[in-house]
Amino acid sequence: MKKHFLILCALSCFISCKKPLETKPVTRGLIAKNAMVVSAREEASKIGSDILKKGGNVFDAMMATEMALAVCYPYAGNLGGGGFMVYRLHTGETGALDFREKAPLAATKNMYLDANGTLIENKSLIGELSVGVPGTVAGIFEAHKRFGLLTVREVLQPVIDLANNGFVITEKQQSRFERYDSIFRAVNGKEILFSKHLKAGDTLKNMPLAKTLERLVLHGKDEFYTGETAKQLVAYLAEKGSIITMEDLSKYQAKWREPIRFRYKDLHIISMSPPSSGGICLAQIMKQIEPFPLKDYGHNSLKAIQVITEAERRTYADRSYFLGDPDFVNIPTDSLLNDNYLKKRMSDFSFEKATPSRSISHGVFEGFDMAIKQSLTATESTETTHYSIVDSYGNAIAVTTTLNSGYGSKLYVDDLGFFLNNEMDDFSSKPGVPNVYGLIGAEANSIAPEKRMLSAMTPTIVEKNGKLLMTVGTPGGSTIITSVLQTILNVVTFDMGMQEAVNAPRFHHQWLPDYIRMEPNSFEDGLIEQLEAKGYSINETHSPIIGIVDGILMLEDGTLEGGADKRGDDTAVGF
Ligand code: GLY
Repeated sequence: MKKHFLILCALSCFISCKKPLETKPVTRGLIAKNAMVVSAREEASKIGSDILKKGGNVFDAMMATEMALAVCYPYAGNLGGGGFMVYRLHTGETGALDFREKAPLAATKNMYLDANGTLIENKSLIGELSVGVPGTVAGIFEAHKRFGLLTVREVLQPVIDLANNGFVITEKQQSRFERYDSIFRAVNGKEILFSKHLKAGDTLKNMPLAKTLERLVLHGKDEFYTGETAKQLVAYLAEKGSIITMEDLSKYQAKWREPIRFRYKDLHIISMSPPSSGGICLAQIMKQIEPFPLKDYGHNSLKAIQVITEAERRTYADRSYFLGDPDFVNIPTDSLLNDNYLKKRMSDFSFEKATPSRSISHGVFEGFDMAIKQSLTATESTETTHYSIVDSYGNAIAVTTTLNSGYGSKLYVDDLGFFLNNEMDDFSSKPGVPNVYGLIGAEANSIAPEKRMLSAMTPTIVEKNGKLLMTVGTPGGSTIITSVLQTILNVVTFDMGMQEAVNAPRFHHQWLPDYIRMEPNSFEDGLIEQLEAKGYSINETHSPIIGIVDGILMLEDGTLEGGADKRGDDTAVGF
């Protein structure tokens, strides 16, 4: 009897234990019925969500969240940088806003080279000459002017209060302030507001930034580009030896762009167009992998990683050669996204053996001949930040914003309370020589006055059956595109929820250097050896983390699930 009972128990356990393996329960992130903000900091998400609660829409919340991040996440949140926004209105209308920085009028093609034509170390990365003309303030005001519902005062007052009352330093922030302290001192010639003396749990106030924001409320966008703030900024920059002038600021305009729209299986994907490479590269990769049954291969399986890696390799070779500011270069977008071209691109892929990057070049299209490409090594940074917002009207935005490197150029304007970007390094300072992300550029991304530098930022919205499915994006330099890709696939192919999808381990390949970066100790035992046996080089030391993805998924019942990446202090707030 006892024996039978045990067998029965074992059997029922087998049945009930087996079931979850087949239909693995999804571990969900925050669920909200009406609206949600997911960003790098809880304070910013909360301020954005409160704006939505007050009846504001995603564009009001964008202004509030963006500025709140400048207060409590100065690593990447900014007034002194730029970014991109992709939107989908509840009507189904989609579009994109480009508030990318521009090269100053006095910028020249070879401004970072010495007399011998050699790249001068750090000149495009640190200090006064690395700064591009900031676009963020123009961006948030442009979006608000066109679509916002609340007044600028209503939107920005909570942010001014945050700057005045202070925010609490997190453990991660403390360690960043410690790490960057010596470079802050070296570049600014003194200790700045953010220093190694700050400890987790301390409250940090930024009164000068509160004052700058107060002036923005009173005078709008012009305050930053022609007003008192502009004058103070230019005086500060001139003293440091920068080439940015009042004319540069006054000429800056955010630009509405047509996003890149493409189909992947039953999805319609809307992503950022040039001067970001994000949308074109995401489309190229997804179209190349589309014929392969990734679900059958399994998530992060050998075969799935091979297919995705090979598509990424071919895509980044095109990126390096063809992409730049569309106002300056003719980009063969249709050819790059042509189905036959992409099919042909993958035709030499084999599961037996890795394709060496040295055997891959950019595609060849008549009339497009740009010049140069080749390799060096890469370093990495997880700068930049992304936030996703859905409001109770059914509008959605994906916004990625950046100072480029962490704290940008490291130049901190004390009297105004913000850091300045080092976005000039995203130009190809010397065609063929990689930037801080190891990305190589060609003539298409060379420096010219008023040109926007090529970006990898990939704010993306996904639709299914004509309805919003997801808004998603991430920081991570060159890894942005591939992190967004994997997150989308995790949801739509591997049946994960939003939180699970953003937390899942990631890998990345960018053509050159020719290795797969993998988050360390995150993949199945033996997988790396199997990849190496196929001829892939693996690098697990380059990037302890790849991307910090934030997204919102609309579930079948119409509720929203937030995915706030565990890799950062990211938080979803909704109601
Ligand atoms: N600065 C990083 C990017 O725009 O891709």
